[in-house]
This record gives sequence, structure tokens and C-alpha cells, in this order.
Amino acid sequence: MKELKKDFLWGAGIAANQAEGYTNVDGKGISTADAWPIDKNFDVNNVIEGITMTQEKIAKYLDPVNDYYFPKRNGIGFYKTYKEDIKILSELGLKIFRMSIAWTRIFPNGDEDKPNEAGLKFYENVVNECLKYDIKVLFTLQHNEIPLGIAQNYGGWNNKKVIDFFVNYATSVMKRFKGKVQYWVPFNEFNHLGFDNTAIYDDTKDLVNQSYNAFHNQFVANAKVIKLGKEIDCENKFGTMLGWMLSYPLTCHPLDVLENYKKMQKENYFFADVFLKGEYPWYATDLFNQLKVTLKTTPEELGLIKNYNADFIGFSYYSSGTATYRDDMKVTGGNVAATGVNEYLEKTDWGWQVDPVGLKIAMLDLYDRYQKPLFILENGIGVKEDNPDLKVVNDHYRIKYMKDHIDQIKSAVSEGVECWGYLTWSALDIISFSTHQMSKRYGLVYVDQDDYGNGTKKRIKKTSFEWYKKVIKSNGDTSIKEGL
Ligand code: BG6
Repeated sequence: MKELKKDFLWGAGIAANQAEGYTNVDGKGISTADAWPIDKNFDVNNVIEGITMTQEKIAKYLDPVNDYYFPKRNGIGFYKTYKEDIKILSELGLKIFRMSIAWTRIFPNGDEDKPNEAGLKFYENVVNECLKYDIKVLFTLQHNEIPLGIAQNYGGWNNKKVIDFFVNYATSVMKRFKGKVQYWVPFNEFNHLGFDNTAIYDDTKDLVNQSYNAFHNQFVANAKVIKLGKEIDCENKFGTMLGWMLSYPLTCHPLDVLENYKKMQKENYFFADVFLKGEYPWYATDLFNQLKVTLKTTPEELGLIKNYNADFIGFSYYSSGTATYRDDMKVTGGNVAATGVNEYLEKTDWGWQVDPVGLKIAMLDLYDRYQKPLFILENGIGVKEDNPDLKVVNDHYRIKYMKDHIDQIKSAVSEGVECWGYLTWSALDIISFSTHQMSKRYGLVYVDQDDYGNGTKKRIKKTSFEWYKKVIKSNGDTSIKEGL
């Protein structure tokens, strides 16, 4: 029976816009995430509307007349606390730390020719700090934010000029970290783009068409980054980052099965196929006809996509959903999009259905289709954890969640699937991507801060921290009783 590789990459991650704060220092420009407030009227169980950024919304959010609070401008202050934070994380025995680079720290408006040295220096300090503890770094180049300048002056990723701006940014950082960082993910949860703030829509009526053109431009940018990245350092490895939206037919009624198949194609396989097989799937023409999408491509772009594919299948996995052909489907929350209820599964406080076996299903399915190594880049549970006395949080539910998922990874590996590593989300409590709440906590380390930025920002290791430390040390023994 195959076991986890001896050099299995146990890790944890954060994203710049959810953690760093200090968005107005050392030459950083404003990003779309910094322009995104916490909104009392936001429906946390149906986030699509909230996270689709338009020019109109940006104007409203940035109008000083509207007195919004912008949590991502404060993050958890990681920009200044990175040394202490990485020191704490080093106690886990972490093999790899994933974080994103804020494009706006390197190119404040996104379209400058030369990088901002202070921004590069900051990430160099972070990398050096990790290497000091023998922790590898995986960088995500775009994690749910783009420079506001790119959004406002160019209309975001719908504009082909943005491809070159992004490639210029990526080249600057890949050159700077040559020999130090070898794991790269150009785009986070790429398949969610249509619903997040990386495409900025001029006209929401044409949203679908703009989304797919923005997708295409990012496929091209991804291929160019891989090409240049391999030239800069042949040791560089590039991954997809698919937000895997596993879904089951609600019943075995053939029409439910068909509906679910179409959903899987549209939300997952379509993107994975382009990244990993290098071409649009056979059903793309029909899909574009149905959605009235006119894709603007050139033969040169399609050639790049064909020739430069990802080395590993990076993906996030949090929960699963269901699909039915009927129009009375009961829905619940999910990673970015609401999904159908599955009566066999429990839900988190935000309605995300917890399904560890689904992770194994996703692994088998992905390995079957693409036969490239898998790398689980995000997996975790968002929970409300009130802690007024600043005690150690006994997060036994997180331990259970992680144990059940890691056990499924081991099971998939024992059957022959190749898997490079597992990164939990998140290393520390940070601001939620979708709801902008601090109270939606994912971390192994508690951070004393509320939704409006109040608190001491003190870091306190949770019980899951001690548990994960032992799992890492034993390379995957999840039978440890700590906290359960
Ligand atoms: C993923 C994102 O979608 O899920 C992370 O890559 C995010 O940035 C995580 O934090 C959990 O989602 P949320 O919206 O609950 O923070």
C-alpha cells in the first residue's frame, strides 16, 4: 500500500489582501480588495451578488459620503508582524508556507514599467524569514485582487493590455526570487473569477461575455508566465489553483445526473481542461453559443495555451453541493456560490457542507482525468470562535475536520494517486475573502480582532495547532488524541 511521500509538503496559507494590512505604506497602490467594505446588508449565505465588482460599486464604495469600514485595509497587520507570525508558524514544523503577493506593492497602479523596490524588499524579507526556518514558500501571484488602476483605467481582465502588465509583474518577482522560491500559482481559484473582484464589469448586462473573455486573457497570461518562469529558472513549478466545486446529483433521476454533469463541466472541468490539457474542451463552442459569448482569441494565444501547461494540479476543497433539474432545489452556502442541500452532510455556521469523502472523490476524478500530481492548496473550516478572555481555543471541530480530510488523502494516495502536499487554510485567523468578516475564523492561531478591527491583535495558538504539529512530525499520523 502506498504511503504519503517522505517529503510530503505539509503547509498552511494566507493571502496578502486578507492578512497584510498597511495598504498605504511603502508605495503600495490601492487594490480592488482594499476598496471592498464590510456591508451590514451583505447576505453572507449568498455571496455572489456581493463579490461581483462593477465600476458602479467601486464608485459607491469609495465615495466618502458613504461611511464604510474596509477590513482588508487592516488585515491582521501581517505586513509588520510577519517575523513574529512566521516564528510561531515555524513551531509547527511547517514544510511550506503559501502566501500571495499583492500586485499593488510591486506595481502600485498595475501598469508601470519598473517595479517598486520597497514592495519587492518586503516579500524578500518574508521569504528569507521562512527559509531561515527551512520553510519553502509557494507564491500566488493574483489572489482575489487586482490594482484599482487596472480596474478603473482598463476595465480589468477584459482588456488584453492587462496580459502584458501582469506578465511584467510576474517576471519581476520570478527574477527576484530565482533560486529561493520554486512553487508558483499564477491565479487563485481561477474558476471563480466571474464572481470575484478580478474582472470589473463596465456593463453588468454583458457580464457573462466579459467574464469568459477575462478568463481567456488570464489563460494566455498564465501560459506566458509559465513560459518565462521556466526560462528564468528551470526548477520553477507552476500549478493551477482550482476552487474545486464538487457536486453530486440530488437523486439518481437521470435528469439530475445530467444536470449535475453539466454543472461539473461548466464550473470545474472547463477550466481544468484548458490549464492542464492546453485546449478548450470539445463542448466549449456549444457552451459559448448558449451563453452568447464571443471569445476574442488569436492563433498565437491558442498556441501558447497549448504549449505551456501547469506542472501540478493545485486546488482548494472545502465542501460539496448538489444539483437537480427541478426548480425547487433547497440551497445552502458554499465556497463562493450557493449550492444544493445534501441531507447526508453537516453544515458549518455559514452553511458550507462538510464532506471529507468528497475530497477523495475529487482527487480520484482529477487524477483520472489529467494524470498530473495533485497538491491540495486550501482546506479548512470557518467557525465563529468568541474568545473574550483570550484563552486557548479548543477547536476540536477543526481537528476533526482536518483529520477526516487528511485520512481521505491518505486513502487516495494508498490507491495510487500522486499527491505532493496538503496546506490547511488558514495559518492564522485572517479577514474572510467573501464576507470580509474577521469572525469567520479559519486559523490554527487565534488573532484577537473583531469585524471592525478592534482588539489587541494578540496571537494565541489553538488546540489544532498542537495537533497539526504532531501530524506533521509523524508525516500523517492523525490518530493523535490532542483536543478530541
Ligand atoms: C478560498 C479563497 O475561496 O476560500 C480564500 O482562496 C478564502 O481566500 C477561503 O479565504 C475561504 O473563503 P471565505 O470567503 O470564507 O474566506
